[in-house]
Amino acid sequence: MKVSELIQQGKAVLPKAEHEVNWLAAHFLGCGLNQVARKSGENVAKATVMAYKEALYRRAAGEPLQYILGRQEFMSLDFKVTPQVLIPRWDSEVVVEKALNLLPKTPCRVADIATGSGALAVSIAHYAPHAMVDACDISESALAVAMENAFSLGVSERVAFYLGDLAAPLTGEYDLIISNPPYITEAEMLNLPNDVLQEPHLALYGGKDGLIFYRRLAEEALPKLKCGGFIIVETGDTQTGAVASIFEAAGLREIYQGKNYDGKYRYVLSKKSF
Ligand SMILES: C[S@@+](CC[C@H](N)C(=O)[O-])C[C@H]1O[C@@H](n2cnc3c(N)ncnc32)[C@H](O)[C@@H]1O
Repeated sequence: MKVSELIQQGKAVLPKAEHEVNWLAAHFLGCGLNQVARKSGENVAKATVMAYKEALYRRAAGEPLQYILGRQEFMSLDFKVTPQVLIPRWDSEVVVEKALNLLPKTPCRVADIATGSGALAVSIAHYAPHAMVDACDISESALAVAMENAFSLGVSERVAFYLGDLAAPLTGEYDLIISNPPYITEAEMLNLPNDVLQEPHLALYGGKDGLIFYRRLAEEALPKLKCGGFIIVETGDTQTGAVASIFEAAGLREIYQGKNYDGKYRYVLSKKSF
């Protein structure tokens, strides 16, 4: 079979997702996206055709493309993802960028609570070579993926991983605490799109009102933040006001609700002054 026929078959199985057809073809042909068209006249090995077709049908059945490819780009870095971790979202990039701007320019300690694939922790370690990062998660299988990412992206000597409940594994004080905890409400869980439902329940459900982890972070993580240090959390797009109130009740005063590049409020940031 020729590459052009491969693409035609892909379009027949995924008629509404031509770009995904090209991504899958590039993945199985082992070439860049822009090279697929140039290869249209080339023959494809039978095993490659079989693997590509299997992937097409998995995608047609609703499996996220990132789990099929096993990769997701985040902060221009290539992360491994498996169904054991949340697929890192571009919304989180603005949170990481903000964190990087707030970090002291001297050696400092960062904690990433609920690290999942390690996207936030590993990106911070990559772009802030003076930062030592502690990353924790309650999922052992997620931590295994995060450790692989730290290793493959060359920062494993500056990111330590801990298995445990929220801030419990963290010791000492941090200059910056970052977290993208689960925040989907009970009601929203009932209406999630099929592909999101295939991500770990543990990574999504944030309690009845979606805010349970923010209350716990205010109570359990804040004592581990230095006076003058920053806490920054990603939230759902209707939650920044509620999270700001939680932070205020915990004694924080300078509280900022930030937007992502879509103009939606998606994170809350505060400096600890006590
Ligand atoms: C929304 S995902 C975020 C993953 C990653 N930080 C990201 O932004 O792509 C939330 C993570 O919280 C973890 N988690 C859930 N409950 C937890 C708990 N009690 N303590 C620590 N981590 C928890 C899940 O395993 C999941 O990896």
